[in-house]
Amino acid sequence: MTARSIIIDTDPGHDDAVAILVALASPELAVRGITTVAGNVPLALTTRNARRVLALAGREDVPLFAGCGRPLLRPLVTAEAVHGQTGLDGAELPEPTVPLSDRHAVDWLVDTLLAARDDPVTLCPLGPLTNIAMALVREPRIADGIAQVVLMGGAAFAGGNTTPAAEFNIYVDPHAADIVFRSGLPLTMLPLDCTHKALMQADWIEGLGRLGTRVGQAVSALLRFYQRYDVAKYGSSGGPLHDPTVIAYLLQPQLFAGKTCNVRVEVGSPLTLGMTVTDWWGVTGEPANCTVITEVDAAGFFALVADRLGRL
Ligand code: RIB
Ligand code: CA
Repeated sequence: MTARSIIIDTDPGHDDAVAILVALASPELAVRGITTVAGNVPLALTTRNARRVLALAGREDVPLFAGCGRPLLRPLVTAEAVHGQTGLDGAELPEPTVPLSDRHAVDWLVDTLLAARDDPVTLCPLGPLTNIAMALVREPRIADGIAQVVLMGGAAFAGGNTTPAAEFNIYVDPHAADIVFRSGLPLTMLPLDCTHKALMQADWIEGLGRLGTRVGQAVSALLRFYQRYDVAKYGSSGGPLHDPTVIAYLLQPQLFAGKTCNVRVEVGSPLTLGMTVTDWWGVTGEPANCTVITEVDAAGFFALVADRLGRL
């Protein structure tokens, strides 16, 4: 089996951290590198957090590069209320031992993707799309090195989690998202319509703590902290585990369902800025540009995540 080359673009963030760990634990995937972006918390913290996750997994061999510290046009909006002041509150993760590269993530993305024509890379954006958009504008030829883009973000009919209309990753940098959704790249979107059906249950979180591993202990503590916000906000039995759905989709796509349709990003209206306007019924006649995933086998998803985390 030839492993699928992936690059994770991320703003850790508790759910990002779990997504990175699941990817590292999965031999079906070859993590070519990790690029960080400002989002859940400022860039310095998302970068530190990503490095700490690699240290936790014992995988500081994975190349990591810091990217854009703010959206293309908008001021940065962060989510400390959800993720805590550090962006990974709830557990003490090991400090990184490998110095941070001084190469900018966008430069590394451009060079890596230009060289990837023979082994195109699947991009896995888990945060605002600033780095991806910047790379596409900087060097459109990188498209030949991109197999597909599978991203967590948006909302088709679920409503927003940051405004009534917009999901966080898209809302933070709607202009970057607009560039990506207009790029013509093969896109798959894991929106809130899907991730709000992937609600963590307390016994599942506690089960991670019983894996008897450093990773299991750390992730269990992180997720206990992380889900408190969404449980209080939605009054649900558990919080949504957003970002790992991207990795799970690559590993076991049969756990998911959706349809390909036209998706456009609102960049003008103050009321609906960042809305992913999803033409589910094809009423616009606009060409389909994105596979929108709205269903997930939650039990299968959580079993997969726990199985992979147990391998670290
Ligand atoms: O709306 C949820 C998304 O925003 C997730 O990727 C979370 O990590 C935050 O980045
Ligand atoms: Ca994220």
